[in-house]
Amino acid sequence: MSNKITALAHSNLALIKYWGNHDAKLRMPLNDSLSMTLDALTTETTVEFDSALENDEVVVGGEPADEKTFTRVAEQLARIRQLAKIETRARTHSRNNFPSAAGLASSASAFAALTLAGTRAAGLELDERALSVLARQGSGSAARSIPGGFVEWLAATNVTSTSDQSYARQLMPPEAWALRDVIALVSADAKKVGSTEGHALAHTSPFLGERISRLPMRYHRVRRELLAKNLKGMGADIEAEALELHMLAMTSRPPIFYWTPETVRVMDAVRAWRAEGLEAYYTLDAGPNAHILVQASDAAELAQRLRALEGVRAVLSSAPGGGARVIETHLF
Ligand code: PMV
Repeated sequence: MSNKITALAHSNLALIKYWGNHDAKLRMPLNDSLSMTLDALTTETTVEFDSALENDEVVVGGEPADEKTFTRVAEQLARIRQLAKIETRARTHSRNNFPSAAGLASSASAFAALTLAGTRAAGLELDERALSVLARQGSGSAARSIPGGFVEWLAATNVTSTSDQSYARQLMPPEAWALRDVIALVSADAKKVGSTEGHALAHTSPFLGERISRLPMRYHRVRRELLAKNLKGMGADIEAEALELHMLAMTSRPPIFYWTPETVRVMDAVRAWRAEGLEAYYTLDAGPNAHILVQASDAAELAQRLRALEGVRAVLSSAPGGGARVIETHLF
C-alpha cells in the first residue's frame, strides 16, 4: 500500500479551558470546553505508509523530530495502525505556517492534521466524530481542531463514559460571527512546562475541585452568549477563565508560572482600553502570549495599539477557521 495523503488543520483558541484529565492515558478531560478554530494558524501534514520502512519517520519543519515529538507522533501512528489492522510504518512530514518557537500552541493543529492524513493514508474513512476522538488521544485540544468554526468538546465524565463519547462538534460555522483573535506575541521561547505535564499537575492544586464544581454554570453562560454572538456578554467570563487556568498552574506543586511581566502589561492595557470604549477581552493559554478577542471592525485598531506596547514582539490577527481537511499539495 502506498497512498500519500496530506491534510491541513487549524489551531484553536479555548474560551472555556481544558486543564486536567480524568483519564490521562486516553486524554479524557475533567470538563467540557469551548473554542474558536483559528484560520491564521495552520499545520500541514503528509503521511505515507511504506512497507519498505523499518521504522516510522517523522520530519517537522524540514528537520527530523526530537525524541519527545517522535514518540508522541509514533504513538498516534500506532493507534491508526491498530484501527486499520496494518503493521506498515509511515513517513510523516509536517510544517506549521507559524514559527513553532513563537510559543503558540501547535499540538492541536498538528495532531488534527496527523490524524486526518494518517487515517486516510491507512485506508480508513472515519467520520468527524471518530476523527475527533482519535485526535484527542494525541493531544486533547486537537479534538477541537477537527471541526471548524466555534466548537464544543464534550468531556464525558460519568463513571460509565467511554472514550468514544468524548469528542468535539461544531456549535456555529466560521462565517457565523466575524470575531477576531488578535494575538500579542511577547515571547519566542519554547514552553518551559508542556501542557501534558500541566494537566497532570492540575490535580495537585487545592483549587481544582472548586473550579470543576463551579464550571458548568460558566460553561452554559459562555455557550449561550457565544450562540447569541454577544462578545460583551461573555467577556468577563472569558477573562476569568484564563485567570483561573493560571491560578491552577501557579498553585500546583511544583507551581508553574507561564506569565511574564509583558503578559501582565498586555492584560492591563486591554482593561484600560476597554474602559475607554474598545470592546476587547483577553485570554491566555499555557504560555505568556495574550489572545485578545474583538469584533472584526475593531481588530486593526487593537493590533495597532498592541504593536506600540513595550514588550510586544509581533501581532497576529485571526478570523474563525474551517475544519481539518485533505489538500492536494504534498510536503514530499
Ligand atoms: O491539548 P493540550 O494538552 O496541549 O492542552 C491545551 C491546554 C490549553 O491550551 C491551556 C487550554 C485549552 O483548552 O486549549
